[in-house]
Amino acid sequence: MSTQTTGTIAVFGATGQQGGAVIDALLDHEAPVRALVRNPQSDRAQALAARGVELVAIRSDDAASLSAALMGVEAFYFMTPEANNLDEVETEIRIGTALVDAATAVRVPHVVFSSVFGADHESGVPHHDSKHTIEEHLRKSGLRASVLRSTPFMEVMAPKLEHGELVLRLPLPEDAVLKMISVRDVGKVAAALSLNTAQAPGGVVELVGDELTGPQIAAAFGAYAGLPARYEALPLSVLPSDLDRAMFRQFAKMADYPTDLAAVRAIEPATQDLAQWIRSTGWVPSTNVAGS
Ligand SMILES: NC(=O)c1ccc[n+]([C@@H]2O[C@H](COP(=O)([O-])OP(=O)(O)OC[C@H]3O[C@@H](n4cnc5c(N)ncnc54)[C@H](OP(=O)(O)O)[C@@H]3O)[C@@H](O)[C@H]2O)c1
Repeated sequence: MSTQTTGTIAVFGATGQQGGAVIDALLDHEAPVRALVRNPQSDRAQALAARGVELVAIRSDDAASLSAALMGVEAFYFMTPEANNLDEVETEIRIGTALVDAATAVRVPHVVFSSVFGADHESGVPHHDSKHTIEEHLRKSGLRASVLRSTPFMEVMAPKLEHGELVLRLPLPEDAVLKMISVRDVGKVAAALSLNTAQAPGGVVELVGDELTGPQIAAAFGAYAGLPARYEALPLSVLPSDLDRAMFRQFAKMADYPTDLAAVRAIEPATQDLAQWIRSTGWVPSTNVAGS
């Protein structure tokens, strides 16, 4: 990897999957990284420290700790924690807003926010509308900002092995086209933008690496594993929460909203499609408890 001359890049959510991928990509570029963590003693935080990442303890409800942690950085990447109910949606908005305010207070030169596909407008999906609210807050802050709108992660799409056959079940009709991106590529694109080695036209990139129906997703895993594979469309009622039902209703209409793989590859040329992602992970099927 090329060596960059860069100031420190701050990362919120560093011990999670997206933040972890951002840090992997930043360290590949030998960039100095500061992780904003709530527990510097956790195993995950300590594993980052062992790789040369600076740890700074923060509390998302303590504005002073956030702005102190962002002092002097060249860029700041943040995501917001998963929300599974309306209280958590409020918390998500509070955290995202507080992070933007802290970046504004110390005039961070460039903020990169990992939002979600569809958050350019209110869609009625509470944990996507929360990200729309944060995007708007960021836009109004006047900070230089790049927004990544991630489609669903390839990491959550794997079928299960049942009686010698791969079976993928999702609450999506067979003909619905699902857009997707690997977490690795979220990290690579976020790092490229944070390091200014690439720009997002208009300050936004809709992150997509592939677009496939459920049967096509199952077939991609089957082709790699050399196993028969099938897709089973489930009813929305299998989902435990109203939030997820609203989200999958939105996913079923995803194909109506355009994305541009070439624009993503202009930032990260090696952005993976699903078949490439499956190969790169050396994916091994796991058995469904019910099918074992
Ligand atoms: N799954 C998908 O397909 C998909 C697609 C697009 C967008 N998204 C969005 O991605 C987000 C989740 O990202 P992820 O998967 O990277 O999350 P994750 O792996 O669950 O990690 C969450 C991170 O946030 C940190 N965190 C949580 N609450 C915190 C707080 N109060 N103060 C400080 N740090 C806190 C956690 O730190 P600790 O280690 O201390 O817990 C951890 O580092 C969600 O907003 C989701 O809507 C998901």
